[in-house]
Amino acid sequence: MARTALVTGGTRGIGEAISIALKKAGYNVAATYAGNDEKAQAFKADHGVAVFKWDVGDPEACTAGVAKVEAELGPVDILVNNAGITRDGMFHKMTFDQWRDVMRTNLDSMFTMTRPVIDGMRERGFGRIINITSINGQKGQMGQANYSAAKAGVIGFTKALAQENAKKGITVNAIAPGYIATEMVMAVPEKVRESIVATIPVGRLGESDEIADAVLYLAGDKAGFVTGSTLTINGGQYIA
Ligand SMILES: NC(=O)c1ccc[n+]([C@@H]2O[C@H](COP(=O)([O-])OP(=O)(O)OC[C@H]3O[C@@H](n4cnc5c(N)ncnc54)[C@H](OP(=O)(O)O)[C@@H]3O)[C@@H](O)[C@H]2O)c1
Repeated sequence: MARTALVTGGTRGIGEAISIALKKAGYNVAATYAGNDEKAQAFKADHGVAVFKWDVGDPEACTAGVAKVEAELGPVDILVNNAGITRDGMFHKMTFDQWRDVMRTNLDSMFTMTRPVIDGMRERGFGRIINITSINGQKGQMGQANYSAAKAGVIGFTKALAQENAKKGITVNAIAPGYIATEMVMAVPEKVRESIVATIPVGRLGESDEIADAVLYLAGDKAGFVTGSTLTINGGQYIA
């Protein structure tokens, strides 16, 4: 029977590519999103992936949301914690709201989304948890003290959870993308983009598909010996 994969923030950007790749590989896929109904419905119509709306920062919504996904698609075998936001600003000007919003969506979500699926994975003796962190959680980034802290937290969470669940057939890994050619990155002025590309040894931005391919590998049976790792995919921009 096909395994079920849940991708948070799976309707846009990198998450969209991950959802499509998992679907093409034969998984039952649930893609979640926060509020952009128009994009989510278009994505569902184009790719035949089931979409679900809830806030990954809200523990009760996550528990109810996972229950709904499991009732419709079956137990979640693969969780891709991808949803994330930025609220950039220099720390000396940062508000607590900017800090808290980023922590809530990017780091609290590791708890709120993983907690409802972990018992089932342990009982069934199989699970794949793949957490999307960032180059900026590895190296730090000016103007992103909140985001860098949250994304570094994701790596610590990944390492601890990997150790706790290794004997239960569950692997837990992180992927740390560098600059990926998503809508957000392509929207910045060309000159700024060129200056970013100049810092990337491979000489180009990454593609969402390159992150999706790594998720596919980590989700599969062949990656059973890979756990607690952070896979850096950044064109050599930062070698951790
Ligand atoms: N883009 C990059 O270059 C890059 C580099 C390194 C790491 N990353 C990380 O990769 C992940 C995906 O980034 P992206 O650029 O593809 O993002 P994106 O295009 O902005 O898409 C974000 C997705 O997350 C959903 N989302 C946001 N807040 C949410 C919440 N509170 N609850 C539920 N869903 C929520 C959005 O839903 P709506 O559509 O409803 O808003 C959307 O589906 C993030 O964790 C990001 O930090 C990105």
